[in-house]
Amino acid sequence: MAIRKIATIGHPILRQRARELSREELASPTTQSFIDDLVETMHDANGAGIAASQVYEPIRICVIEIKDNPRYPYKPNYPLTILVNPVVTLLTEERFENYEGCLSVPNLRGRVKRAPHVRVEGWTRDGNDTRFEVKGITAGTFQHEVDHLDGKLFVDRVEDPTSLATWADFERFHRDRFVEEARAIVTKYGA
Ligand code: NI
Repeated sequence: MAIRKIATIGHPILRQRARELSREELASPTTQSFIDDLVETMHDANGAGIAASQVYEPIRICVIEIKDNPRYPYKPNYPLTILVNPVVTLLTEERFENYEGCLSVPNLRGRVKRAPHVRVEGWTRDGNDTRFEVKGITAGTFQHEVDHLDGKLFVDRVEDPTSLATWADFERFHRDRFVEEARAIVTKYGA
């Protein structure tokens, strides 16, 4: 296993639509060991998720895991989930405001509207079909990761640019209010 280098905003790879994988390609040792690297890179960077495009592989794989995340302490825990060729369907017209950050957008956070209830479909790393629903803040995390595979970054979805903040200024000026909101979202939708 190896920790991969993470592409940052401005690199064209982050703006490319990642391509689908075939089951044969997924089963190959190269892809399987790539998935291990992706998980290890996410852990190393304390990410809540990471998409293959972020480590310079424009293929439709992303991973999500939230385990007492130090970058996002208000996020409910969520088990390691590896998704291949994922499709996210929004199941509600409702939106909540997430204060997002991204490993590919160093030192910036901003408010992004996300659906609090989605259906996720795709394959597991073994190539089996998977289909499940996600609610609350975690639904936002899935939307963020699948956006990466479509060449989108959270900054594209920031409607109010005055919400943009460095991590230090998020802590100083925005954290308390947002943590209150996050608690309300978790209470309302669960995780
Ligand atoms: Ni990201």
